[in-house]
Amino acid sequence: MRRVLTEFDARRLLAGAPVVLVTTRWHGVANVMPVAWNMPLSHDPPLVGIAVHPSRHTYDMLRLSGEFALNVPSNRLMNHVQYLGTVSGRDVQKIELAKLPTFKAQRVEAPLLEGCLAYIECSVEEVLRLGDHQLFVGKVLAAQAERQAFEESWLLEDADYKPLHYLGGELYAILGERRQAQLRTSEEGSVELEKTTEERERREEEEARRREQQEQ
Ligand SMILES: Cc1cc2nc3c(=O)[nH]c(=O)nc-3n(C[C@H](O)[C@H](O)[C@H](O)COP(=O)(O)O)c2cc1C
Repeated sequence: MRRVLTEFDARRLLAGAPVVLVTTRWHGVANVMPVAWNMPLSHDPPLVGIAVHPSRHTYDMLRLSGEFALNVPSNRLMNHVQYLGTVSGRDVQKIELAKLPTFKAQRVEAPLLEGCLAYIECSVEEVLRLGDHQLFVGKVLAAQAERQAFEESWLLEDADYKPLHYLGGELYAILGERRQAQLRTSEEGSVELEKTTEERERREEEEARRREQQEQ
């Protein structure tokens, strides 16, 4: 049985990208806010997008400074993320109040937050009005990630080195483990789906036998 959802609830079906903490700095004052609506947009040039509501203090900071940094927090910062998304930089100095140590970014003035797993530094290339949020398109100027967390993709080996995913409200999740998709290339070179589990197991056994023979 399927549950009928409202158009408004549809957004949560797409929840799951790692939540990021967007840091900005303008005239020496820094701010931070969590953003769940973030996405890669282009390979070349490398562009990423964040959807920010005009009521956020970060919205003004982005418009004025023309740059930002994305900090990818781990599970350890979950309560901080919720707090940083509940109060506004217009009213309080969030970075100081949350006692979050920072360090200098390579290419932007916005500070980077210690204890995060990865960082992306961006210049604002374009701002698009989309419904009630605006999409800030950022050109990636520099990126770095903790070795224990990321190598070509998220490693997902140690719980403390997994990114945090926002499900909505006060709910978060972390991913379980990496899985490898299995496709088969036929003798003619076309890519095919494995037909059955038995077929896949038989092929894996054959491949293991072939590898053993080659090693001998
Ligand atoms: C986990 C989480 C994710 C959020 N994602 C977004 C988002 O994608 N876009 C947005 O405009 N606000 C988002 N918010 C709300 C802002 O983070 C929140 O309004 C914040 O207090 C704004 O801070 P600022 O006024 O200092 O910029 C999110 C809040 C939380 C807790």
